[in-house]
Amino acid sequence: MKILVTGGTGYIGSHTVVELQQQGYDVVIVDNLSNSHAGVVDRIAEITGKRPEFYNFDLIDREKTKTFFEICKDISGIIHFAAYKAVGESMNNPLMYYRNNLDSLINILQGMQDNGISNLVFSSSCTVYGQPDELPVRETSPIKEAWSPYGNTKQMSEQILKFAVEAHSLKTIALRYFNPIGAHESALIGELPLGIPNNLVPFITQTAIGLRKSLSVFGSDYNTPDGTAIRDYIHVVDLAKAHVVAVDRMISGKTKLPFEIFNLGTGNGFSVLEVIQSFEKVSGGKLNYQIVDRRPGDVEKVWADTSFANEELGWKALKNLDEMMLSAWNWEKALANKK
Ligand code: NAD
Ligand code: WQD
Repeated sequence: MKILVTGGTGYIGSHTVVELQQQGYDVVIVDNLSNSHAGVVDRIAEITGKRPEFYNFDLIDREKTKTFFEICKDISGIIHFAAYKAVGESMNNPLMYYRNNLDSLINILQGMQDNGISNLVFSSSCTVYGQPDELPVRETSPIKEAWSPYGNTKQMSEQILKFAVEAHSLKTIALRYFNPIGAHESALIGELPLGIPNNLVPFITQTAIGLRKSLSVFGSDYNTPDGTAIRDYIHVVDLAKAHVVAVDRMISGKTKLPFEIFNLGTGNGFSVLEVIQSFEKVSGGKLNYQIVDRRPGDVEKVWADTSFANEELGWKALKNLDEMMLSAWNWEKALANKK
């Protein structure tokens, strides 16, 4: 069976393509390489021994998307990762975010409707919850007003899906990721942030390898045991495997509702200092860091209630924080060796 993976050369997409292929699916990738490299297709082929089909075009281009669906027949399901994801950038360029993230989704939905494709897995985010009133956060927890245009595109996408699914008899699973980190054990694929990383873990590994001088820890006065903010970090391979489970679930007709939503996290929260400690443990070195002011817009603490995903999908994140940090470090070292 053939699965279309949009954004398949990106961070989470590439790991998901590997897992899909290893479970016997054929994969066709669409990506415009706005935040990834064509070489990722070679790396995927190196891991799996099978080269995914690859189309390079922009999914906000309606005509090209329409032509793609006419050419590329027999798609059994779609995983739609393609989107812009930098919260700060979205504050400065909101229209760019609304256009890219919403138009691409609408074009995909149109392609599904026109070509009789009924299964879609959508990349959503824990950002839809903002700072939840109760922890751990459940899928039924209220959606708070968005703090950024990026977060708003995920909320709006979920609403678009809810109505489109009803009107066009589609099946959709929206997966709300918490904080994906780490890399494939082969160290052939991983996260490739352009420029200065915004996210914690690439900043840690780039500091340790000498690309950055020092990590700034944003805030030590939060209402948490050590004063630093808490997140639910999840290994990207665990996350990727959940997508295969979601695809299997739709294709085998096991979905219980046309539109299902699942949290994907480990259910455990770790503070920034705990993440640094784990990194120091697995890398055997000391990390250069300093405590600075809070980063505007950051929530204090958030972690997932994963019981719905565990019970309904029969999926559970297996890798612990040390394994996540070790794989991230191995990936950073592999990148340095290539230079
Ligand atoms: P990524 O930037 O590594 O991958 C996204 C890919 O989509 C890139 O390869 C990019 O080139 C491509 N793309 C973007 N716009 C496109 C367009 N219009 N047409 C074709 N290709 C396009 O990001 P990622 O971390 O792999 O995230 C994947 C998805 O998961 C995104 O939807 C993101 O919002 C969501 N998400 C990510 C995180 C995270 O922390 N990484 C957390 C929650 C949700
Ligand atoms: C994690 C923690 C920072 C960098 C973002 C998006 C969210 C989702 C996941 C897509 C926070 C602290 C960070 C640094 C630090 N993405 N930190 N120094 O902000 O939880 O979530 O990625 O949907 O929408 O907002 O992730 O990795 O940036 O930060 O102290 O240099 O690390 O304050 O507590 P975040 P992050």
